Amino acid sequence: MKISKNVKDALRPIRDIVSTYLGYQYDFYRYFRYAGWRLPSRYSVRDYKAAKIYHRLEKSLSFRNRDPESGWSAADDLVRHLKRSQAIKGGFTFHEKIGLKVLGDFIALAPVQQKQDRLGVIDFWQQHKDIASGQGGVLEKNLVSLQSGKLADPEAFFSSRVSVRDFSSEAVAKEDIEKALLLALNTPSVCNRQATFVYCLNARSDIDTALLLQNGNRGFGHEIPCLLILCADLSAFDTAGERYQHWIDGGMFSMSIIWALHSLGLSSCCLNWSKGPGDDLKLRKLIDIKDEHTVLMMLAVGVARENVKVCYSARKTVTDFYHYMD
Ligand SMILES: Cc1cc2nc3c(=O)[nH]c(=O)nc-3n(C[C@H](O)[C@H](O)[C@H](O)COP(=O)(O)O)c2cc1C
Repeated sequence: MKISKNVKDALRPIRDIVSTYLGYQYDFYRYFRYAGWRLPSRYSVRDYKAAKIYHRLEKSLSFRNRDPESGWSAADDLVRHLKRSQAIKGGFTFHEKIGLKVLGDFIALAPVQQKQDRLGVIDFWQQHKDIASGQGGVLEKNLVSLQSGKLADPEAFFSSRVSVRDFSSEAVAKEDIEKALLLALNTPSVCNRQATFVYCLNARSDIDTALLLQNGNRGFGHEIPCLLILCADLSAFDTAGERYQHWIDGGMFSMSIIWALHSLGLSSCCLNWSKGPGDDLKLRKLIDIKDEHTVLMMLAVGVARENVKVCYSARKTVTDFYHYMD
């Protein structure tokens, strides 16, 4: 018995290295199969792509010392993109319509001579300006509005959030989840692509099914009243450099959801999805998750019981992880 335990322990690093390799293969396969470079005419792919392109124009419009002659290559790219999309059944996407609005704002500020040189872009915009979105472009903000989110007591807000693993039986209102998601939508994302997706499970049987393969809910999973499955959408990314972007954007969005729930008085506990290909594929058989959605983690959500015990979760000091460079 002892020997077999020792042998197992000795082999563990090899097992981990092999599993890591297989995990990378799986991630590569998923990126190859579902990232935005495949089937570029998909609605979601076109939508993300449009955001990626028009955001270049939006940024240029927001610069204080803006070169009025710059931005035309982004405008050309946008028009090329929109022309391709036009040929596809179903009309322009959400972000494509915003792209038209941004293009209009950009053209309005362009020097006359430049407009004369870019009649193709202007004509295209003229033909489609009526379907442009009302959103997009730039907004004027003053310091008062930028600082209006300043908290009177930031310590109270940040230090009162803890992972709760003891929820009351109270159901989580659908409206509260939606409010938290709306708040979390303010999360920054690369080129504002917002490539995240949330599945919300409320039925006991669905929650239990999803948690079957999750290894961190023992002892409290059976009482979780609401379970979110937080995902990132691979179809938003299409370059080698962006191969990890969905983890980053998705991680940031996930944290925002947690803070948003906290701001509404709801408690939560992240549940890791640090899994290999086998469990990930099994989960996809149990729960209807779109292929292009990468599962980042699960999130238990609920109203905490009146009195609960939580882990102390000691924190480092700032000097442990911070180096101020003069
Ligand atoms: C990505 C992620 C995955 C986690 N997975 C689990 C889990 O599976 N089970 C669990 O009980 N807690 C899980 N946690 C919660 C952590 O244990 C907890 O955040 C940490 O101990 C700090 O405690 P606090 O959240 O109360 O500040 C996870 C946290 C993160 C960020």
